[in-house]
Amino acid sequence: MSLIRIDQDHLIHPVHSASEQADPVVFAEGSGAVLRDIHGREYLDGLACLWNVHVGHGRRELAEAASAQMRRLAYASAYSGYTNEPAVRLAERLLHLAYPRMRGVYFTTGGAEANETAFKIARYFWRRRGQPSKTKVISRHHAYHGLTLGAMSATGIPAFHRMFQPLVPGFIHVTPSYPYRHPGTMAEALEETIRREGADTVAAFVAEPVIGAGGVIPPRPEYFPAVREICDRHQVLFIADEIITGFGRTGRWFALEHWGVQPDLVTFAKGVTSAYLPLGGVMVSAEIHQAIQEAPPAERFMHAATYSGHPTCCAVGLANLEIFEREDLIARGRLLGERLLSRLDGLRDLPSVGDVRGLGLMAGIELVEDRHTKTPAIGLGAQVLSEARRRGLITRMRGGQTGEHPIGDTICLAPPLVTTEAQIERIVEILREAIVAAVR
Ligand SMILES: Cc1ncc(COP(=O)(O)O)c(C=O)c1O
Repeated sequence: MSLIRIDQDHLIHPVHSASEQADPVVFAEGSGAVLRDIHGREYLDGLACLWNVHVGHGRRELAEAASAQMRRLAYASAYSGYTNEPAVRLAERLLHLAYPRMRGVYFTTGGAEANETAFKIARYFWRRRGQPSKTKVISRHHAYHGLTLGAMSATGIPAFHRMFQPLVPGFIHVTPSYPYRHPGTMAEALEETIRREGADTVAAFVAEPVIGAGGVIPPRPEYFPAVREICDRHQVLFIADEIITGFGRTGRWFALEHWGVQPDLVTFAKGVTSAYLPLGGVMVSAEIHQAIQEAPPAERFMHAATYSGHPTCCAVGLANLEIFEREDLIARGRLLGERLLSRLDGLRDLPSVGDVRGLGLMAGIELVEDRHTKTPAIGLGAQVLSEARRRGLITRMRGGQTGEHPIGDTICLAPPLVTTEAQIERIVEILREAIVAAVR
């Protein structure tokens, strides 16, 4: 039986839809920003797969780092009482790169698990502090934090909730800073919600510095400084979900650096290994770290997972970060991002392009039916993606919605940090042709 037929018969995919599986691309190879399918057809990787292949495809040295570690010691438990060198070295390296107040690292295998862990650490911290009623998590409409039960509940995109209701109790959504659709900073929405719920019930506020899968929405520059001040005033922990924005995606190692703000916890995944192996984690401030370190036996940190601190994943993380430093990829991403955004700005002459926005090497093009009313275009995005794929560009979109929190279909771009200038030009050319063809 053919590969595709077996796939159709048996494999359940993320966000599975049988109709979309009628004619799937079967990826076979990759190099740099180019993916090749089993027929040898080439595609530009407009989203670094899922915003994660920062160093590009086909990096032999990452395969070698994995192979060397696997031959030495592929896996061993990192439960309390045991450790391994790659996990220790990577933790040290990450703390050196991240916000100065970060002092501890817990490793996970991906993003949703990192956010789950961060929510549990927030609860744990307040319990250790004698405030067990502080358990709620405030997140934002349009946010994407992953799809395990707790992370899904923090996610603010209704399409992900519809068939899995009810959400976990104690997750509350507020309006984000979204300059195209809301005037004002919107930080006041957070403060009103903390007051309404009672600060003594709120453990944490979680936010992506730039909303990613929810439609690439950078905030107003005043937003995160105001958020930090509100969280401090009400004793609410601030979790930065940097699963997309970390590791140079926005032109800095971590994105809140743009606004001079430090969170209390940072979740990361994706770029930490450039997706060569699954890895994620949470970094915590000195204060939170101390709460874990100084816990008496009855209050020890009873959170765990088999693959936390996986030696091979961590060894690949270290080798990946060496590539970043050797090739100065943070600076490269920043320069490429400026080029991408300036070229995309040229698409504003197309009547269905409502907004073009981004930060560093992540960008979004929000499609509308009418530029004056900003009526969301719904359905057009899928046609744009299919026209783009026919022309050799693969990327993804945020599906639009109407109602209380409208957004038009938004084409997302976040190519590898090693994309060439010529490939950036080609991505934008293809998008123009694809939008024109889709509208026609
Ligand atoms: C900001 C953000 N948080 C969390 C996640 C979830 O990560 P994972 O898919 O590894 O569970 C993602 C995935 O795209 C993400 O973009």
